[in-house]
Amino acid sequence: MPLVGTKEMFARANKEGYAVGAFNVNDMEIVQGIVDAAKEEKAPLILQVSAGARKYARQGYLIHLVQAAIEDSGLPIVLHLDHGEDFEICKACVDGGFSSVMIDASRLPFEENIAETKKVVDYAHSKGVVVEAELGKLAGIEDAVNVTAADAKFTNPDQAVEFVSKTGIDSLAVAIGTSHGAYKFKGEARLDFERLQQIMDKLPKGYPLVLHGASSVPQELVAKCNQYGGKMPGAQGVPEDFLRKAAGMGVAKINIDSDLRLAMTATIREVFSKTPEEFDPRKYLGPARDAIKAVVKNKIKNVLGCSGKA
Ligand code: G3H
Ligand code: 13P
Ligand code: ZN
Repeated sequence: MPLVGTKEMFARANKEGYAVGAFNVNDMEIVQGIVDAAKEEKAPLILQVSAGARKYARQGYLIHLVQAAIEDSGLPIVLHLDHGEDFEICKACVDGGFSSVMIDASRLPFEENIAETKKVVDYAHSKGVVVEAELGKLAGIEDAVNVTAADAKFTNPDQAVEFVSKTGIDSLAVAIGTSHGAYKFKGEARLDFERLQQIMDKLPKGYPLVLHGASSVPQELVAKCNQYGGKMPGAQGVPEDFLRKAAGMGVAKINIDSDLRLAMTATIREVFSKTPEEFDPRKYLGPARDAIKAVVKNKIKNVLGCSGKA
């Protein structure tokens, strides 16, 4: 089975009220941990590669790992560029065989974001590749104390409609209070679900929305990391209930990276701490892979709701 795009995947997710997990990959153990979980759960899957991952592992290696994952699992898998910052990186990924790219020009003023995004859409669509883009900037909800500042950062529903229609993108990443990394909220976690609903109501029915910064930063993994020498005080993620709600409301793609990093690091720390004489990488990368698998299985089954939807 070849790589697939997101069109049918998102249409079905929307119709049946679940979300597809998009997990960041950087090496073989991460790919295998994710894919082993998705295979057991028979779940559709998006494997995404950031610019940093591309630089670290090199594009060709990641593409071949994902192709091996397709052969091994028989699953429909999307290979997606995460946060492509300009036309050049998006073009390199389209030309290299990715089935989906994200152009993230959200740092640019609105009209320039539209122009850069449209350029990517024209090229990617001419090659049969789908495009995600972002409007608004991810930030912690604590920044929303001042409403004007919040409006400047969170996705504006009217602009979302204009952005989608002028660019022709296939999915839109929205900013409603999530943020990247393991420190998402200083106090109580909050997301702007009202804004999410307004965006959905204004866009064509079933239009695919994407939620970045959706790791839930499981506290047992933070504790394990800290217990074995880590230093992550106050790490906090998006409560799983919020993610279930977003998936049920019609968010089609939910992005997770930090939880995988946390699972991997906590596990490796534990092995190092308990067996300091160990120096065979398989003895700590193997358990790290199992820990990633467990995190992804939980997401698929209990959060995203996409078990059995492959
Ligand atoms: O969007 C952020 C992802 O977690 C990727 O992070 O750029 O460090 O690979 P990265
Ligand atoms: P997390 O840092 O919450 O895992 O977000 C990942 C992400 O949005 C990748 O694009
Ligand atoms: Zn992101």
